[in-house]
Amino acid sequence: MSTSTIVSDLSEERIAYLEKLVSQARAAAAVFTQCAQEDVDRIVKPMVLAGLEQAQYLARLAVEETKIGVLEDKALKNMVATEFVYNYVKDKRTVGVIREFPESNLVEMAEPIGVILSLTPITNPTSTVLFKCIMAIKTRNAVIFSPHPGAWHCCSEAVRIMYETAVKHGAPEGVFSCLESHTLQDNAYLMRHKDIGLIDATGGPGAVKAAYSSGKPALGVGPGNTPVYLEKTADLNMAVMDIIISKTFDNGTICASEQTVVIDDEIYDRVLKKFSDLGAHICTEKETELLGRTVIDPSTGCMQPMAVGQKATSIARFVGIPVKPKTKLLIAPIKGVGREYPLSVEKLFPVLAVYRAKSVDEALKLCVDVNHAGGLGHTAVVFSKNDEVIRKFSEVINAGRIIVNSPGSIGALGGVYNDLVPTFSFGCGTGGGNSTTDNVNVYHYLNIKRVARRTQAHMWFRVPNQIYFNMNAVENLRNFPSRSTIIITNPALERIGHVDIVRRCIPPETPVRVSIIPDAEPDLKIVTQGVEALNFYKADQIIALGGGSVIDAAKIMKLKYESPEADLEELAAPFLDIRKRVVQYPTEKVNQARLIAISTTSGTGSEVTPFAVMTDKTRGLKVTLADYSLTPDVAIVDPQFVMSMPKGLTVDTGIDCLTHALEAGVSVFASAYTDSNAMQAIRLVFKYLPVAYEHPRDEEARSMMHNAACIAAIAFSNASVGVNHALAHAFGARFGVSHGRANALMLPHVMAYNAAVPTKFMPNPNQRGYVAHKKYAMIAELLGLGGHTVEEKVKNLIAATVGLLDQLGVPRSIAELGISKEEFESAIPELAKVAFDDPSWRSNPRMPLVSELVELLWQAYNGRAPAKAASAVQEPTVEETVYV
Ligand SMILES: [Fe+2]
Repeated sequence: MSTSTIVSDLSEERIAYLEKLVSQARAAAAVFTQCAQEDVDRIVKPMVLAGLEQAQYLARLAVEETKIGVLEDKALKNMVATEFVYNYVKDKRTVGVIREFPESNLVEMAEPIGVILSLTPITNPTSTVLFKCIMAIKTRNAVIFSPHPGAWHCCSEAVRIMYETAVKHGAPEGVFSCLESHTLQDNAYLMRHKDIGLIDATGGPGAVKAAYSSGKPALGVGPGNTPVYLEKTADLNMAVMDIIISKTFDNGTICASEQTVVIDDEIYDRVLKKFSDLGAHICTEKETELLGRTVIDPSTGCMQPMAVGQKATSIARFVGIPVKPKTKLLIAPIKGVGREYPLSVEKLFPVLAVYRAKSVDEALKLCVDVNHAGGLGHTAVVFSKNDEVIRKFSEVINAGRIIVNSPGSIGALGGVYNDLVPTFSFGCGTGGGNSTTDNVNVYHYLNIKRVARRTQAHMWFRVPNQIYFNMNAVENLRNFPSRSTIIITNPALERIGHVDIVRRCIPPETPVRVSIIPDAEPDLKIVTQGVEALNFYKADQIIALGGGSVIDAAKIMKLKYESPEADLEELAAPFLDIRKRVVQYPTEKVNQARLIAISTTSGTGSEVTPFAVMTDKTRGLKVTLADYSLTPDVAIVDPQFVMSMPKGLTVDTGIDCLTHALEAGVSVFASAYTDSNAMQAIRLVFKYLPVAYEHPRDEEARSMMHNAACIAAIAFSNASVGVNHALAHAFGARFGVSHGRANALMLPHVMAYNAAVPTKFMPNPNQRGYVAHKKYAMIAELLGLGGHTVEEKVKNLIAATVGLLDQLGVPRSIAELGISKEEFESAIPELAKVAFDDPSWRSNPRMPLVSELVELLWQAYNGRAPAKAASAVQEPTVEETVYV
């Protein structure tokens, strides 16, 4: 029968009755939302006391009505359901702010669910009602109870007691109700009712399945089939007593109770003797077979309902097994798990299967089989003093609760034998078809809202320990004692005598070797040779004398020398945030060497950066490494090494330096720390680059440009670069154009692009607004370029940049380089793809669309002036702070 058929079978009168229950509950829930934590707590306590007072009365009603279980145990369960649950919830906050995590800027707030439909079982009827009533009031929810029809009277009485006490102490009227003489149709109707917020189904598989199938959020618990491993090191007296306590508790009705005990061969006979001594009957093979046939339905393989919660003696009598009058438990030895061994399934009555295991592996396998035979996700028990056995058992068993050295049923209830959360509802996880493995508790009766305040990312500013600058700064090498020094440099620098200058500054007692490497992007082969030399001479100091490629090579040699296991390809793995990167650089070092970088060009700033680029020609790989551990220990910025730089190199490196500073200035990682460097570098470039270009021997200009390159590198080491570099990398590599020139071709267009309102903003918690245009305006102000509005200032800065490029004789369009339009057009898709994959733009203020990268490439090709630079941005001044 489909659900719609079931629902349509309801009479109008019945529907009106159900609607009334829901509307009362809804109204109560609405009123309840006004209650404060103190109001709620004032209601809960008297409810708990009322439940305790009526524990025996309700237990008696339950036993009389259901004919299941043991009066004394049911009374005890009612007390656990009230006192133990109260002990857990009494100080818990369940209204308003319930938890705060100041270090994470997170606050959790409770929101009631509203109306809960609660299905309760025949096996634990009143205790489940008491438990759920307390949880509902504590969380400001209204509940409509739908008890198992075989336990309606006792449950409705439990609801009445809880309801009257709750209302007397301030709970809204209608907060609890109990369906009268209900049917499956009623449940189906309510389960689909729009005003029911949650179905909490504690009961048989049918009720749980109906709840989960309703389309409503549901808390349902799965069936159990608790395996127990009784391992040879266990305290046998304790184990046997615990198992008897648990399996006979309320005649075995708690679904967490023990079902099959797997016993090690060595102790099997002793254990059975102990069971027997304490009042268990050990079944013969024939009795086991008879028992299996009778208490388990052969057609379904499930327990017979008439056996549930009955005494061992009653079952024995029914089956025809002669037992002593006070027999507590029937123990049935079985030889395996499955349909041929009917007693290997769940038995909610005092019949316990036992199995003799020849080894730990066999025992674990059988426990897993029992676990899978209808008890996935529920409960398992292990008795052992061997931690390794307990660990293995816990690993292989799929159970929400693994109870160690204590009774399964009372252990799983929580709060008595352990610190599990007290509950009468065991989540069984996905194995049991449930949404949780938890012991269901108040937090499952709440919608927990997480108020997540903005958290600023921690920022940093990292530079080499020591930077020596100005003419003859190289003389500071005297301050660094060394047992063995290697100078890494290139042939040209050796030829023009730079190596000799360095050598003269090293203390005479220091053994020095020179390793000449080609002046090109370092290759794995070169790096490997360098590391061999470092090892051979047991170097403790590396002096890198050269431009970016020499210094990069030295950084990688040092890395491989100190940590030979470092996998360069793996270390080059992409990352979004350097602090959260997947791959970590090695911290354990087999060697240690100081790296002193002496730059002989004024551009890359490699002497202070945490970056290094290398190629692996054999595998056709380009490896870009980035980690602050790569930063040289000492940087020497001595202009004497750049006095003879040719014009072309002066221009290329100078523009690279300017681009570093401009991109770092508008980066989303820019800070007052990086800006102080970026802005100063820009000022120095505008002032001194033309001089150094026109008058190469001008010592002041050379010195200032050398400083500017280093200062700009300090800025971009901490704030990174942007779209300009992404485009320049792609274009430069594809068409063999130098890095500085490639940057120059993109620069005015990228500035205009960044100054306009972005199509896509770059997500970053440190950005309080879009400020790139204001940053450009700040730079314009610093350069004294004039202008009244931000827009004018941005325009003036771009114009000044274009003017500088013109002054340096840099080609202003890709077309001027002789690259045909057709060739460029055919390269565009690949260029855009490569640029988009380039990590450089991740810190760009605008997140570039691929189409925008294409547009920028075309602008660079045509060299068209970026006329409408900042037209979309109309702000009068830059007074507003640009920092968070
Ligand atoms: Fe660069």
